[in-house]
Amino acid sequence: MKPTRKYPLTLHVNGETYELEVKPQRTLLEVLRNELELTGTNEGCATGDCGACTVLLDGLPVTACLVLALDAHGRQVTTVEGLATAEELHPLQRAFVERGAIQCGYCTPGLIISAYALLQENPRPDEAAVRLAIAGNLCRCTGYTKVVEAVLAAAEAMYAGRSAPATSTQMADM
Ligand code: FES
Ligand code: FES
Repeated sequence: MKPTRKYPLTLHVNGETYELEVKPQRTLLEVLRNELELTGTNEGCATGDCGACTVLLDGLPVTACLVLALDAHGRQVTTVEGLATAEELHPLQRAFVERGAIQCGYCTPGLIISAYALLQENPRPDEAAVRLAIAGNLCRCTGYTKVVEAVLAAAEAMYAGRSAPATSTQMADM
C-alpha cells in the first residue's frame, strides 16, 4: 500500500520559495509539473534514461524523475523557466532557436539545462566537452549536430559579453 500521509516540503525554485505538503513517493518532477505548474521540464521515460526532466539541484544537473521531492527539501532548484528574464531569452535559448537546434522540442529544456550547467563550470568548452555534458539527454530529431553548434555559439556569445570592455557609462558607475 502506498503511503497516504503528506509531509511538509520547502522548495526554492527559480528564486521563489514554495511551502508544500507532499506524499513521500512524489518525485521532484511530479511536484514541479503538477503542484507548481512548471511544465517546461518534461517527462519522457520516468526511469532516468532520457534526460528530458533534467533540472539543477543546488547547481548540479539531476534527472528530476529520479529525485524524491522530499529529498529536495530546502534546496535550490533551477528549471528551464528560471533561465530567461521577462525581457529576453537566455543566450542558450536564443542560440537553440537561431541555430535550428529545436525540432519537436521535447528534449530541449533538458538539453538547455545540461548545457547551462556545463557553461557555469566551463565557459569556453570545446565540442567534446559539450557532447559529454549532453550525453545523458536523448534527442530523436536533431542528430545533435545543431545542438552542439548552438551550445558552442551560446558559449561564445556569453564569453564575449563577459569580456566586453566596459563602456564609459559603466566605468563612471564603478
Ligand atoms: S523523464 Fe527523467 S530521465 Fe527520462
Ligand atoms: S528535438 Fe525532438 S527529441 Fe530532440
